[in-house]
Amino acid sequence: MKTSIEKVDFLIIGGGVAGLRAAIELAPRGRIIVLTKDKFTESSTGYAQGGIAVALSDEDEVGIHYEDTIKAGDGLCNEEAVRILVEEGPRLIRELISWGAEFDKEGSNLSFTREAAHSKKRILHSHGDSTGKELERVLINKVRSFPSVVRYDFAFTVDLIVVNNRCIGASVVRRNELINIFAKSIILATGGTGQLFSRTTNPPIATGDGMAIAYRAGAVLQDMEFIQFHPTSFYSLSAPQFLLSEALRGEGAVLKNINGEQFVQKYHAMADLAPRDTVARAIVSEMVNTGANHVYLDLSPLDNDFVKKRFPLIYSTCLQFNVDITHDLIPVSPAAHYIMGGVKTDLQGKTTIEGLFASGEVACTGVHGANRLASNSLLEGLVYGSRTGKSAAEYAVNVQGQDSFQIRNQERPKPCELNLDEIKTSLKQMMWEKVGIIRCEESLKAAKAKLKEWDFITKAHFLSRQELEVKNMLTTAQLITDSALLRDGSIGAHYRSDIKGRGLNWRSHTECHREKGTTWYSEQ
Ligand code: FAD
Ligand code: SIN
Repeated sequence: MKTSIEKVDFLIIGGGVAGLRAAIELAPRGRIIVLTKDKFTESSTGYAQGGIAVALSDEDEVGIHYEDTIKAGDGLCNEEAVRILVEEGPRLIRELISWGAEFDKEGSNLSFTREAAHSKKRILHSHGDSTGKELERVLINKVRSFPSVVRYDFAFTVDLIVVNNRCIGASVVRRNELINIFAKSIILATGGTGQLFSRTTNPPIATGDGMAIAYRAGAVLQDMEFIQFHPTSFYSLSAPQFLLSEALRGEGAVLKNINGEQFVQKYHAMADLAPRDTVARAIVSEMVNTGANHVYLDLSPLDNDFVKKRFPLIYSTCLQFNVDITHDLIPVSPAAHYIMGGVKTDLQGKTTIEGLFASGEVACTGVHGANRLASNSLLEGLVYGSRTGKSAAEYAVNVQGQDSFQIRNQERPKPCELNLDEIKTSLKQMMWEKVGIIRCEESLKAAKAKLKEWDFITKAHFLSRQELEVKNMLTTAQLITDSALLRDGSIGAHYRSDIKGRGLNWRSHTECHREKGTTWYSEQ
């Protein structure tokens, strides 16, 4: 395979909200490459629907946003990380508006909606239910305005280049060429892991690459067991999975079982606006009790014209699959949506490897604890993307550019003879059934045993996207499963049917490290 070398000041792996916001911070300070493994606009960020949480309305306060976030995190949030999120959020949203972001308004005032577990209306939204597209548009335009930023699309990061626990670059495959990109600081902003599960709201890019890459490089990962399952994704055997925003329930839609009965109030006093994990488990119980593979979302409490105007994307998408949401009940079931754990960082985005930073869904500052408050992740991308950019710049000031390097194993490997598509499908089904919304020791041990059979794939040398994604998915699945086995209690989004209490170690975090394995670390 043709190989080449490039040198820049900063390398950012990922072009979602976190990577783009970091790029904007770094752009005046040196040459940057931003990598995306697909089209530049293909990220979870672009699909975000409900909105972005920020305490900007007259009836709200950052202190109340803080309390709601801490409560959703179920005792495991890093309180300082939350304080930073809610306090720095308003400034970064105002800045985004000054760059041209258009959020929906009522008259001349910003319009705020409500989502689960928020005690105030505090979610800004754009074009009704296409908030992510608007954020992406504004951030990409801003990035484009800096000549110092070069964007490489369809550039798959294979591995980080680490020498003596210092990250100096990454190996990247792009258009049949292996490029070793060297930089003074490297930021991972590769997003989440939803594609590890057979039911997910996440786009195909969300295969947990960043977590696997960081793990292989020797970084510490934290709290990987905490996966958030969104209660309502479109359920149809003949249609793609599609998120039905929680904002629908925020505006008054209700869940019903297949017998037409409302049920969430039986499980939580906040009924349809209870925390996501409670609603997802309530749906699973109802599906089991009624022998159905879905429940319904009923929008009849909402005015039809309001629905079409407020949720144009959801309305038109469902219509394509013959569901008119202004008249029909919408079949829904839960799906993997977000991972609270990830590459462990401090509050400046520093990982445990020198020169390597992480931000956004791939990272774990502890801001979400055991369960993320709805619409806090776009805000996290802005706040921590910006902080991470700043600290990556500060770090680079004292770093010499790399002059010489020996990279091993540049040979093009033989094509894999295994049927990796089949393995991927089995893996996703297994993760859904055994490491999903409800887990227990038996299911987790069965998953662990199967993952062990596939372990040799995680050690193989690949250079194609399809092969590398399966390899990364298997590694990340191992980290999630091992952490879920270790956490012997139910807390936040991690629910063990065999242990109802929180467990003796509940205040501790789980950690994964290539050499140390999966272990507990310190109390909060
Ligand atoms: P992403 O936006 O996922 O970007 C990841 C980037 O990394 C991509 O550019 C990808 O190409 C790149 N990448 C990945 N692997 C590699 C590799 N190996 N090599 C090179 N590049 C790589 N959150 C909210 O706060 N509000 C919402 O309303 C909301 N709605 C959502 C709706 C949906 C359908 C989904 C899926 C998520 C939603 N979320 C929402 C969650 C939120 O969108 C994500 O958590 C957030 O956008 C993640 O941003 P990110 O920058 O960390 O990663
Ligand atoms: C949604 O619109 O329901 C998703 C919001 C989020 O995940 O934060």
